[in-house]
Amino acid sequence: MMTAKNDLMDKLVSLCKRRGYIFQSSEIYGGLNSCYDYGPLGAELKRNLKDFWWKSMTQVSEDIEGLDSSILMHPRIWEASGHVENFTDPLIDCKQCKHRFRADQVETPVCPDCGGPLTEARSFNLMFKTFMGPVEDAAAIVYLRPETAQGIYVNFPNVQASARRKLPFGIAQIGKAFRNEITPGNFIFRTREFEQMEMQFFVRPGEDETWMETWKERRMAWHKALGLDPNKLEFHQHGPGELAHYAKSAFDVRYEFPFGWQEIEGVHNRTDFDLRRHTEFSGKKLEYFDDQRKEHFLPYIIETSAGCDRILLTLLVNGYAEEEERTVLHLAPHLAPIKAAVFPLVNKDGMPEFAERLVASLRRRLRVTLDTSGAIGRRYRRQDEIGTPFCVTVDGESLGTGTVTLRERDGMTQERVAADRLCELLETRTFPPYL
Ligand code: GAP
Repeated sequence: MMTAKNDLMDKLVSLCKRRGYIFQSSEIYGGLNSCYDYGPLGAELKRNLKDFWWKSMTQVSEDIEGLDSSILMHPRIWEASGHVENFTDPLIDCKQCKHRFRADQVETPVCPDCGGPLTEARSFNLMFKTFMGPVEDAAAIVYLRPETAQGIYVNFPNVQASARRKLPFGIAQIGKAFRNEITPGNFIFRTREFEQMEMQFFVRPGEDETWMETWKERRMAWHKALGLDPNKLEFHQHGPGELAHYAKSAFDVRYEFPFGWQEIEGVHNRTDFDLRRHTEFSGKKLEYFDDQRKEHFLPYIIETSAGCDRILLTLLVNGYAEEEERTVLHLAPHLAPIKAAVFPLVNKDGMPEFAERLVASLRRRLRVTLDTSGAIGRRYRRQDEIGTPFCVTVDGESLGTGTVTLRERDGMTQERVAADRLCELLETRTFPPYL
């Protein structure tokens, strides 16, 4: 069973490289451990995923504003947030083979790889450090942010005042985060550089528990709208030993990967922890003024924190299937990198010209591609493997009737449609299922 599961990951990694989804970073130099580059299809899929999240948050929800804060921030922010003190993992080394482990993941008193003796556990801070300016001393240390959330908290008064928002409202942000993970792995599941899609929802204290429930529901519905198998999604509630230093309660949205149930998003009740700490450390008031009740108070925060790369991996794992004569990526049409591929049945009798005109007319509205080479069956297989939801064939009849064959990836059903209605049809069928 385990071999079949590992096998699936190996096949996926191979497909990703072969078809241009994901490459090892710095490959010609032997690669850089746990860093990856998104190829033409991967970049497109990632963009579609981020767009879906962004629009679900800032366009479809009426109560959320967007933000794009900088990666490098004042170092005091990370003292206030608790990351300098608490964002650590216990690290142990094998004295013999020099392999490194997270102490909480080793269940034996000796090295799990070679049986050698282990060092005592020591605390290892996961934040990457660098220096700002030409002098590399302690006063110049800045951190690469380990979460995007802090950029939102320190901008709370700016966004609230400039957007003239009243509670409850949220601030959403997508951006890179960096963690010097001790044990990265499982392809792009755990890496040292990754992207987060985070939303912080500011509420009146006392209303936090209700909003927590609302956001749990909204987020689970969103994951289902990605086309993920509902039987492979669940909530996992953090026990007291698991809670992050800032959280009053926390639920992970988990997916069943070939390597087990794993977190893909966290929904956290962070109380007023962050705003209170930033008030203390900056000396600036971060309170909200309720002008109806004439009250000043620090809002509570419900956070939804999703990993973009990790969810992208989930889409690939969830979509990958080996069927009788084909390998298919069952990606939801609104996320698929290419929406339709157009094929002239044969390269003569005006069919290639018809197909080219059709592609040119679709291009401004949808990401489409033209494929003129090989038997039609092979062209279908090529598109199935990269998850293209629709294939359009121009045949002998097309020139006379102005119709084409539209073939759908999952059911492989075919229908005859008017070429001049195709754009509208494809746009409707690939439109995101906003909630
Ligand atoms: N602001 C809260 C926060 O960052 P987290 O549970 O540490 O919470 C949230 O991270 C999400 O970010 C995770 O559910 C995961 O999807 C993603 N994530 C965290 N560490 C990651 C890593 N090393 N590689 C890829 N994704 C990661």
